Amino acid sequence: MPSAPLLTLNDGHKIPGMGFGTYPMNDQEVEAAVQAALLTGYRLIDTAASYGNETGVGHALQDSEVERKDIFLATKLRGADQGYDAALKGLDGSLQRLNVDYVDLYLIHWPLPEKDLYVESWKAMIAAQKDGKIRSIGVSNFKPAHLERLIQETGVVPAVNQIEIHADFQQADMRRFNAKHGILTEGWRPLGKGLMDNPVIVELADKHNRTPAQIMLRWFTQNDIIPIPKSSNTDRMRANLDIFNFTLDDGDLAAIAGLEAGNRLGGDPDTHVEE
Ligand SMILES: NC(=O)c1ccc[n+]([C@@H]2O[C@H](COP(=O)([O-])OP(=O)(O)OC[C@H]3O[C@@H](n4cnc5c(N)ncnc54)[C@H](OP(=O)(O)O)[C@@H]3O)[C@@H](O)[C@H]2O)c1
Repeated sequence: MPSAPLLTLNDGHKIPGMGFGTYPMNDQEVEAAVQAALLTGYRLIDTAASYGNETGVGHALQDSEVERKDIFLATKLRGADQGYDAALKGLDGSLQRLNVDYVDLYLIHWPLPEKDLYVESWKAMIAAQKDGKIRSIGVSNFKPAHLERLIQETGVVPAVNQIEIHADFQQADMRRFNAKHGILTEGWRPLGKGLMDNPVIVELADKHNRTPAQIMLRWFTQNDIIPIPKSSNTDRMRANLDIFNFTLDDGDLAAIAGLEAGNRLGGDPDTHVEE
């Protein structure tokens, strides 16, 4: 069974080097998919309050033979729940739906600078971490200015920043900023759009006798980024995780680096609005 090596976060907790994404599956779909993902060997499960599927994720965890302590469960604070008291309530709602006592990682889903509540939300997460409801606290879609404010105003550095990354949107500056502050980068939308047919990716897939998806995901892990690909298909799930037994060489990595095109697919964190 393939498995991802563990990495160490800046708070000392361990996190699997590859995760399983659950957007946009509903409760029913996600229950089956997470069950299959756990059987396949995934141990990091990524959900969010705003995905509306935490209940299904919780059912899958309960039904699994994999013990809770061996699963790294991550969820996210939705925009409507930002603020000190609201964030504590939002977290409790997630814990209830997931039917767990704690989550391994809790992320502020988007900074929503217009609301200007992410520092208050972060303070609530620091308190909830002390209470044992969260093991590691982090953020998602944060830019340097947002991170600098959190760090300056609370002194607590996020363990993780989960951001959009794919071969034609590599976020090299943001990743450098994260690394400089000891923040581990997770990459969402790791397979991008239309990249499976990219000639550079296809050539590397032929060279290594791998699929285009495996080439792209291996690029993440060799760059110290945790990818969280989603798949509802067990064969693709398995193949996506089965990447730790081959290595892209310097030339391969440089060829993928050359695909950078600034091609953001999701929202810009400075302006993105999320409920
Ligand atoms: N923090 C955020 O703001 C944010 C935003 C978006 C997403 N996320 C998280 O990141 C996760 C991943 O992002 P994503 O789901 O948008 O994109 P993704 O994982 O890059 O791509 C998922 C798509 O690729 C297909 N796929 C998966 N493996 C494949 C393979 N080996 N070959 C060909 N196609 C394959 C899937 O279809 P099948 O299911 O049919 O295989 C699905 O259509 C999400 O599920 C979610 O957990 C976070």
